[in-house]
Amino acid sequence: MKKTYSLFDIYWDEKDIESVSNIIKRGSYWATGPEIQEFEEKLGKYLDVDYVATFNSGTSALHSVLLAYGISSGEVIIPSMSFISTANCVILAGAKPVFADIENETLGLDPEDVKKKINKKTRAIIPMHYGGRVCKNIEILREIADDNNLILIEDNAESFGARINGEYTGTIGHAGMLSFCQNKVITTGEGGAICTNDKNIYEKLLLIRSHGRVEQPGTNYFSNINEMDYIQVGYNYRIPTMCAALGLSQLGKIDKIIKLRRKIGKFYDKELEKVANVQILPDIKTICNVYQLYSMLLENPENRKELQEYLLERNIYTKVYFFPIHLKTFYQKKFGYRIGTLPVTEEISKKVLTLPFSLRFTERDQLFIINSIKEFYST
Ligand SMILES: Cc1ncc(COP(=O)(O)O)c(C=O)c1O
Repeated sequence: MKKTYSLFDIYWDEKDIESVSNIIKRGSYWATGPEIQEFEEKLGKYLDVDYVATFNSGTSALHSVLLAYGISSGEVIIPSMSFISTANCVILAGAKPVFADIENETLGLDPEDVKKKINKKTRAIIPMHYGGRVCKNIEILREIADDNNLILIEDNAESFGARINGEYTGTIGHAGMLSFCQNKVITTGEGGAICTNDKNIYEKLLLIRSHGRVEQPGTNYFSNINEMDYIQVGYNYRIPTMCAALGLSQLGKIDKIIKLRRKIGKFYDKELEKVANVQILPDIKTICNVYQLYSMLLENPENRKELQEYLLERNIYTKVYFFPIHLKTFYQKKFGYRIGTLPVTEEISKKVLTLPFSLRFTERDQLFIINSIKEFYST
């Protein structure tokens, strides 16, 4: 049977099984268990932030943080080169997504274009850290946000553990979002979090994620004879305890995971640099890339689909991360976006292709993928 090279595979071990089964066997607190707070504290310690609130997805986390900052109208500047959730959350909160273009090295928001998009209605900027990289202008974007009295929320779904000048992504803005969906740096199946140093925002997040219910520290809704008060409307966006327990055991392996990711990523970089028609994204000295995705650019992208099909015949899965959000049907219809609005985004999106990535890859596996790309171009 031919080996399959999937887009990603989950890095798990016996400790992950033990963590989850311990909660199941306990037979209580499958919801709102103490492992949730423990996971939040350990994430906070790792990232060196004061507060972390977990959620049942990155999407619910991003939606909630926009609500916590009261961004229920006005405009929010975001990249179009992202997963749809970045834009959807802005609409769900009640604001309008305004797309700005990206630069072509880390595929992060371009500060010059962001400045052009700021007006009286602008409330926030949401830069996205792409595929384990760091939006290289994140510090400049923070300054722009501060100068214009705007909130900077980092969409750090894809780059947990990445750093720029020693600082972790997700901790440079006013708040940062994490995702623990299955293809992320660490995973709980589904899950997400917001990290922030702002106590007031953190407290609002706790209300939004759990029905607007006031919970005193140490009291738990499910083991408390007293009625609790509800002081606003809220969702049930809480992470299940089993997922938090899984998060704890995944976080326990973070150094090993990042080391392996960097080894696989750097091997792709080294070998793909020699391949005709392929352009690798530059390695930037101040940035520690954790390679959540391995994306390359094709110099002649006209036959990208044929390349994908050729590779698929060899059981090699590839994908385009991302097609621009502003050109998706809903966004075109609702906001009137058209081709040509964001030239760099549209150009990169035409050229980009993401390769399979597994922490269990041997060099032989990676060479099989790379040689298959070479074969495609030589036939
Ligand atoms: C850039 C980006 N933003 C937001 C999300 C949404 O996260 P989740 O899938 O956990 O809701 C993802 C993950 O898929 C993502 O890649």
